[in-house]
Amino acid sequence: MSSQTETIRRTTVPQIANRKGGEPIVSLTSYHAHTAAIVDRYADFILVGDSLGMVMHGMDSTVGVPLDLMIMHGKAVVRGTQKALIVVDMPFGTYEESPGVAFRNAAKIMKETQCGAVKLEGGARMAETIRFLTERGIPVMAHIGLTPQSSHVMGGFKTQGRDEDTWHLHEADAKAVSEAGAFAVVLEGMVEPLAAKITKQVHIPTIGIGASADCDGQILVLEDMLGLNAWTPKFVKVYGDLGPQIEASVKAYAEEVRDRSFPGPDQTYK
Ligand code: KIV
Repeated sequence: MSSQTETIRRTTVPQIANRKGGEPIVSLTSYHAHTAAIVDRYADFILVGDSLGMVMHGMDSTVGVPLDLMIMHGKAVVRGTQKALIVVDMPFGTYEESPGVAFRNAAKIMKETQCGAVKLEGGARMAETIRFLTERGIPVMAHIGLTPQSSHVMGGFKTQGRDEDTWHLHEADAKAVSEAGAFAVVLEGMVEPLAAKITKQVHIPTIGIGASADCDGQILVLEDMLGLNAWTPKFVKVYGDLGPQIEASVKAYAEEVRDRSFPGPDQTYK
């Protein structure tokens, strides 16, 4: 008897790369098996972003995120999903020193999490490393514009390209990562016309976050769009209202416990 079970195939890196100029690429961050399982039904790729340091672990920036934490969350997201390509962020300090160090850490992420690709921040300065990794079997998504791991150098989380005289630097970054073999590039916190211009210039998909609706795809931090964070960047459209919903549930539970109306085992275990 033949099996009725259909094999679900994960989206591959070439499938994402081939979407340049085509159907817009949908992506979100996710850090857990349970949220990733929901996102998996709709997203082409899921990013296990190092934003988890701030969103999940209360850090002030992504600079303090350790490699092991990325691997732990990466494993959870891979376990919770079947369909989307999973991309895991390389945290600060694990790839900048040399292509060799980057390869060792990227290989560790891929082996231990079973993700399909890694993402790293930086344009022209990271091109040599991107080439080194891709030539050795590690697919790389690049990330340019506002690069949060460099926030101390940038003087905060600042929109890039406000001064048109700086556009050529961002354009050069996009060209460099594309020529080095990155299969896609995240454009974060960049003025709209610059992001739209870069999207026309490079042959790999651009994934916008606070950039342009003309990018080849979009990404948002899941907790931001769900309304779970007290503060969200101005560019985030908030689709959900989870923060107040969670608070209402916790409040109802606390009140039931305090006034002894919390259901006993005879009511809860039928
Ligand atoms: O860490 C992250 O979540 C990211 C996205 C904002 C692109 O890099």
